[in-house]
Amino acid sequence: MSTRIVLIAGSNRPDAQSSRVALYLAGRLQHLGAETDIIDLATTPLPLWPAESTNNPWQGLANRLRAAQAVVVITPEWHGMACPAVKNLFLYAGRRELAHKPALLVAVSGGQGGAYPIAEMRSSSYKNCRLCYLP
Ligand SMILES: Cc1cc2nc3c(=O)[nH]c(=O)nc-3n(C[C@H](O)[C@H](O)[C@H](O)COP(=O)(O)O)c2cc1C
Repeated sequence: MSTRIVLIAGSNRPDAQSSRVALYLAGRLQHLGAETDIIDLATTPLPLWPAESTNNPWQGLANRLRAAQAVVVITPEWHGMACPAVKNLFLYAGRRELAHKPALLVAVSGGQGGAYPIAEMRSSSYKNCRLCYLP
């Protein structure tokens, strides 16, 4: 059975570069024999937590995250920060979805940077959900 990897494209901008990077990485992972699933926050936006349950796609996304054996978290760099859409997802996601799963962090930046959103995600997004970021 192949490994199921969920890629989270963490930009909520239409036609986001993060979505393109997610597609590219999914292709590479499939080439290595993995099964992939892309959660794209540009096409499936999550309302700002906490939100009413009507028309909230979270339950569907939670089921897809639970089915993953590993995760790739892709965030753009916006003003030296991780995208609020991906931080918002980590308010919804908890240990039932993510605990002890390995995760690769990827930053998408217009410049030569990308270090700030990586540092931000590493320092604040994994504690309660117990996601294990790869070094
Ligand atoms: C609001 C905003 C702020 C940005 N701030 C930075 C920044 O501080 N440093 C940087 O290198 N690029 C910055 N960029 C450029 C983005 O990192 C780049 O356009 C990236 O591809 C955006 O990813 P997305 O298309 O997935 O949203 C910014 C872009 C936006 C829209």
